[in-house]
Amino acid sequence: MRVMISTRSKEFTAASDIILRGGLVALPTETVYGLAADATNDRAVARIFEAKGRPQFNPLIIHVASMDMVAQHAIISPLAQKLADAFWPGPLTMVLPRRAESPVSLLVSAGLDTIAVRMPKHELARDLIKKVGRPLAAPSANRSGSISPTTADHVKTSLGDKVDFILDGGPCSIGLESTIVLVAGKSVSLLRPGGIDRTAIEKAIGKPLVAPQQADMPLAPGMLKSHYAPRVELRLNQSAPKDGEAFLGFGPTNANGPYALNLSESGDLNEAAANLFAYLRQLDALCAEHGLSAIAAAPIPVTGLGEAINDRLSRAAAPRE
Ligand code: TXA
Ligand code: MG
Repeated sequence: MRVMISTRSKEFTAASDIILRGGLVALPTETVYGLAADATNDRAVARIFEAKGRPQFNPLIIHVASMDMVAQHAIISPLAQKLADAFWPGPLTMVLPRRAESPVSLLVSAGLDTIAVRMPKHELARDLIKKVGRPLAAPSANRSGSISPTTADHVKTSLGDKVDFILDGGPCSIGLESTIVLVAGKSVSLLRPGGIDRTAIEKAIGKPLVAPQQADMPLAPGMLKSHYAPRVELRLNQSAPKDGEAFLGFGPTNANGPYALNLSESGDLNEAAANLFAYLRQLDALCAEHGLSAIAAAPIPVTGLGEAINDRLSRAAAPRE
């Protein structure tokens, strides 16, 4: 794998050139690794879907490095500006009205009149966007339906040579995808729980989030019932594993078998979020290696980032189609 650590290196320039020529670059963000392409290039965006093996063309998030860049593609209401001031750069994605004159590929927003925008905090991601000078479309850098990548190695295992270049920025600090909100008129609704918890958003806007309408939720991988799935069965809210099971613990526990990992021994939900996808992968691999049939997972409180962790776990545990 090609490793990248400095934005002044030749490799960094190579990554930018690959994007400008319509290629795919996996890049680190603070949430998960993204599979990035020039959002204004239809063919490049189509390659993202092909590389991920996505069953349908679901709308993607564009990643930007400045408010000027946002303003070229979306209409920023005062309410959206408030959220941007509070959380950008960072793990918040806003679905905003799309500007008719935006050169972003229609494939990115799946023909909708809205566009999902995020300004990541990770320096490599921001520097690459600035160098390219265009927004980058980037879903998580994994095969459709499988666990999201939080290290460069995960990307390599999941996508192999389907990605032209991998920028290695180390493990992702948050480890869960961004929170997605729809900002429409005077209300904000939560489309996907993620790296920023609902109470922080409600505090920033000074009012409660409203429930999204069915029509605002285009059928998308992160919203499919079965998603983020390990290969073996996952059983939730278990205080201990049964014989022949691996265990995903949380908080102080005596259930420390040979196949156990603890998301956070101290019960810290941020630490648990950062470890979630990597530990699911490790336990899945242990199950394959030792012929275990399932992963039992400890209950996780639903406060703070616990809402997003429980959301991902319940999708990973859902019956497969
Ligand atoms: O943390 C993240 O958000 C990561 C990193 C790489 O930035 N990206 C990510 O992208 O999770 P992806 O493609 O897996 O998720 C995109 C989500 C989908 O669930 C999709 O439904 C929603 O964004 N989305 C995109 N455009 C939308 C729109 N116009 N209206 C409603 N939802 C939209
Ligand atoms: Mg994903």
